[in-house]
Amino acid sequence: MGEGRDTFGSEGRLEHGLERHDLPPERTPKLVTERFRLTVNGAETALEADADTPLLYALRNDLGLKGTRFGCGSGQCGACFVLIDGHPAPACDTPLWSAAGKSITTVEGLGTGGGLHPLQNAFLAEQAAQCGYCTSGILIAAAALLAKNARPTEGEVRAALDRNLCRCGSHNRIVRAVLRAASKIAP
Ligand code: FES
Ligand code: FES
Repeated sequence: MGEGRDTFGSEGRLEHGLERHDLPPERTPKLVTERFRLTVNGAETALEADADTPLLYALRNDLGLKGTRFGCGSGQCGACFVLIDGHPAPACDTPLWSAAGKSITTVEGLGTGGGLHPLQNAFLAEQAAQCGYCTSGILIAAAALLAKNARPTEGEVRAALDRNLCRCGSHNRIVRAVLRAASKIAP
């Protein structure tokens, strides 16, 4: 291998045997920190971070909103769903630059006035979680559904939750809970 090349081998080491952090400062890639403003659960928030930082990291690590989960990290499981301007989206796959200026709702922001959202009450009533790892993402997807369709059919609930995985197999209880919440919101 040519001396001085800084491509990584498959084990994450530089080809000449140095770790990435061994590079002299002038050859270490620099993160460019920028300032972003966004509204999170109704509160205007400013964050300083690299523009490509996943929104999920900013929510969990900078704002302490741990209800949004890290699952697959690649937009495949729905565990990290948040509402972005009312639409469910994977926070793991949303860079901070694209969330700037938008309104973000996490599971912590679903309830109002200290009370639980009807979906949260219904999930409790139906015991619609086992380990609960998928639950916050599913609550977010279901909240988006009920905001535009207050009385969905069972098929519409299943379709709306299609992007959310539940490894525990709680699907039927989850669907029952969403339908129960709908019956409370729009009797
Ligand atoms: S962790 Fe974001 S979709 Fe799986
Ligand atoms: S309740 Fe465990 S993954 Fe859904």
